[in-house]
Amino acid sequence: MLSFILAAAIGVLQPQIINIQDRTQTSLDGDWDYLVDQFANGYLDYRQNPMPAGNTFFADRHFFTDQTRLVEYDFDAAEKMKVPGDWNTQGDKFYYFEGTIWFRRVFEADPQPGKRYFIHFGAVNYEAVAGLNGKILGTHKGGFTPFDLEVTGLLKKGSNSLIVRVDNTRHPDGVPMQNFDWWNYGGITRSVCLVEAPETFVRDYFVRLSADGKGVEGWVQLDGASREAVASVEIPELGIRTETNADGISGKATFCAQFKKKKQPERWSPENPRLYEVKIASGEDSITDRIGFRTIETKGCKILINGKETFLKGVAIHEEIPFAPSGRAFSEEHARITLGLAKEMGCNFVRLAHYPHNENMVRVAEEMGIMVWDEIPVYWAIDWSNRETYENAENQLAEMITRDKNRANVIIWSVSNETPRSKARLDFLTGLIAKAREMDPTRLVSSAMEKDEPEPGHMTVKDDLIDYVDLISYNQYVGWYDGDFEKCDRVYWTFPVEKPVIITEFGGGAKFGRHGAVTDRFTEEYQAKLYEKNIEMLSRIPELAGASPWILKDFRSPRRQLNGIQDEFNRKGLVSENGEKKKAFFIMQEWYSRK
Ligand code: GCU
Repeated sequence: MLSFILAAAIGVLQPQIINIQDRTQTSLDGDWDYLVDQFANGYLDYRQNPMPAGNTFFADRHFFTDQTRLVEYDFDAAEKMKVPGDWNTQGDKFYYFEGTIWFRRVFEADPQPGKRYFIHFGAVNYEAVAGLNGKILGTHKGGFTPFDLEVTGLLKKGSNSLIVRVDNTRHPDGVPMQNFDWWNYGGITRSVCLVEAPETFVRDYFVRLSADGKGVEGWVQLDGASREAVASVEIPELGIRTETNADGISGKATFCAQFKKKKQPERWSPENPRLYEVKIASGEDSITDRIGFRTIETKGCKILINGKETFLKGVAIHEEIPFAPSGRAFSEEHARITLGLAKEMGCNFVRLAHYPHNENMVRVAEEMGIMVWDEIPVYWAIDWSNRETYENAENQLAEMITRDKNRANVIIWSVSNETPRSKARLDFLTGLIAKAREMDPTRLVSSAMEKDEPEPGHMTVKDDLIDYVDLISYNQYVGWYDGDFEKCDRVYWTFPVEKPVIITEFGGGAKFGRHGAVTDRFTEEYQAKLYEKNIEMLSRIPELAGASPWILKDFRSPRRQLNGIQDEFNRKGLVSENGEKKKAFFIMQEWYSRK
């Protein structure tokens, strides 16, 4: 179906515009009209063949004011839903809904000559097709990364009609595919805005510490007719200003500039999350970002930030609103509350599972000195031999790196989580790893692998991927899925290569306020003992360089049907969905206070 829509699109997806926060923008957040379309009636005829664009809902026809022809929909008569926001928590009738919902936003504009206009989406889960004033703009697949659709020449003075078809149906060839342990929140789940830019503008840039640490380097990507223009990068506090000519074909300008002797930057670190104002300009365009400068590397089994050994005191986080009703989080306030809780536990690191979280989360963490593991949803079983599935995964990886590559606190790109081993899977993941290293040679690349127990009590990680990643990062559930917590006392860990070990998941479930014998699962007492035993076990691993227990907060999952205890929540949180701290929260807090 989408191929038809693409064919009609005036332009398919263009590369992302980064740092739109600093651009002239009109927010389109708020109440959007919506029409539920379970049978794809908005773009397929009764034989399920694609309809001409003029007959689809993109035409935004009206029954009540235009009876020249029969239409059986009218957005003017539609109910409204909040954008950003998942639909599942915006009304009981949508709680389990999976399928297509159309959204419309009517807005005023006054386009100016010599300016370019884009509709920017923070994210739409899972497939989006957008149209403006009856013209289909393009489509996007993947529920957790931003995309921009140019509307220059289509945007009208006065009233405009933006229509988006959203489909959160899971697919066997999707990324993720049909089975995952989180709620399939559908909708326009992050902010939408109209972005204005000069005819030639700075679409993208990468500004980072030079490899030798003696200056800054990177590139600026121009977009527009005069892309051979000069691009400048300025860091006023460091007395740096450099100008370079962009390559007339690609519009890319590379740069490097040495620090002055007396103007060395304070390095970004969790203890001192120092950011510098960086101005990037070309022609009439100028954009400002706040960028931190640091190095991240491994040395044997150590992780070094700015050459200093660092232990990643982490916790895993799903992107849910703190606290109930636990829908998709999206705002800066949501980020501050969630990261404040992680900070209170003593964290300097968060694993943003299992997909790129909203940009507020990454930027607020950067300000707070919290390092980030950034991950794409290549999760469990994926259609490894499907070329389109690979391209989808690689596109989501590229969009994540494009968006977050200037954030000093992002230290690890993760290409997958708990994926079953095979040749096809290895080829798929090593392709993604190569792509990540090509786009960003400065960060660590890894994956959440799985442990093995080759003989009773001997635990290790025997995954071919281990030779391609920078960390031995893996999930282990000794004491929950794997025996009971006494097993923690009886096992020992060895590793086949000398790399830093990060336990990217451990833990077990408890319903807040459920108390009982320490041997009773889902009591706070069992969870607390499991954490105590796991911490003792992890403390016996000399190669350990970090941990991110699963998980900060109880989260919705269709896989957790134990009524009275789970009630469709995964209860491994250290706090409940209402923010109530369980006993295990304080055990983690105490361990981290000693690290
Ligand atoms: C897995 C998986 C998580 C899941 C967790 C659990 O390790 O990575 O996404 O939620 O186990 O079973 O709770």
